[in-house]
Amino acid sequence: MLQQLEELKLDALRELEGINDIKELESWRVRYLGKKSELTKVLRSLATLPLEQRKANGTLANEVKAKLEDILKQKRQVLGETQLVTTVKEEHIDVTLPGRPFPVGRLHPITQTLYEICDIFVSMGFQIVEGLEVEWDYYNFEALNIPREHPARDTMSTSWVDFQTDSGDRPMLLRTHTTSVTARIIETMQPPIRVIEPGKVYRYEASDATHTPMFYQIDGLVVDDGITMADLKGTLYEFARRFFGEDRKVRFRCDYFPFVEPGAEMAIECLACGGKGCRLCGNSGWIEILGAGMTHPQVLQRGGVDPEVYSSFAFGMGIDRLPMLRYGIDDTRLFYSNDLRFLRQF
Ligand code: DAH
Repeated sequence: MLQQLEELKLDALRELEGINDIKELESWRVRYLGKKSELTKVLRSLATLPLEQRKANGTLANEVKAKLEDILKQKRQVLGETQLVTTVKEEHIDVTLPGRPFPVGRLHPITQTLYEICDIFVSMGFQIVEGLEVEWDYYNFEALNIPREHPARDTMSTSWVDFQTDSGDRPMLLRTHTTSVTARIIETMQPPIRVIEPGKVYRYEASDATHTPMFYQIDGLVVDDGITMADLKGTLYEFARRFFGEDRKVRFRCDYFPFVEPGAEMAIECLACGGKGCRLCGNSGWIEILGAGMTHPQVLQRGGVDPEVYSSFAFGMGIDRLPMLRYGIDDTRLFYSNDLRFLRQF
């Protein structure tokens, strides 16, 4: 048996010399050191030998095992290194090439504008509130003095949600304006209230240079005792100065919105022609920015606020137009087409 072990060792070592890759090395390991190998068999059979023989054979068998394991480890290391070099050579990996940079994201121009507007109002003591994009007819229309047959419904092409009550009504829709949040706030918060309500709104509309079926608005609401039109004008003047610059002229005119009385629109002097009149402002020299007004007493009452005690002003504007005016962008669809060449400019 001693001789068998010696031969085994010599065979193993001789064979190992000719091995040049990791796979072959693995089958060598199985053959000489695996569970079914000669060496393992010898080691297992030791127990059946008489004591004297067991000692001699056992010592040698363990020596052979240790030797083979040791040399296996060395060979593995050598082969591992050469293998890596050949892979690098064969696959033409040029480790000196510079790495691929990870593109760093940035905020979308509309998000940037939204944050900027929010910052201005927050600095004036307003709180930001986000409402729901899928809304009840009640908060989008009914609570805002726009009952079912009211013609004002036609000014907003509504996307209704396909859900019917037992009586056949479809009371759910994608909100057409963020003023729906105003209706909810009047119902849930106690005066004094100063909130702005930014978010996405939806209209059933085909896309063109000035329309998209989804766009952004921001509404604002102030409720307190003694709020007047002077507060409305002061607040919105301040906003316009901060957003468009100190010197930009601002104009208020009467307008109609069912949920305010009186209602107004605010325009700024055209950024393109400085008020002289051009294509952008339709030759008027002015660009309408927002709708506003003193919240209608019925709207307050419906939400549980006593209009004899409290008064309120509200306003609402589209966000998309602002970066368009500021940067001279002439097609609103650019904001939503995910073209990085466009978006990287902001
Ligand atoms: N919701 C109106 C729209 O989408 C804008 C508006 C006008 C909002 C007057 C207001 C407001 O809060 O007081 O056209």
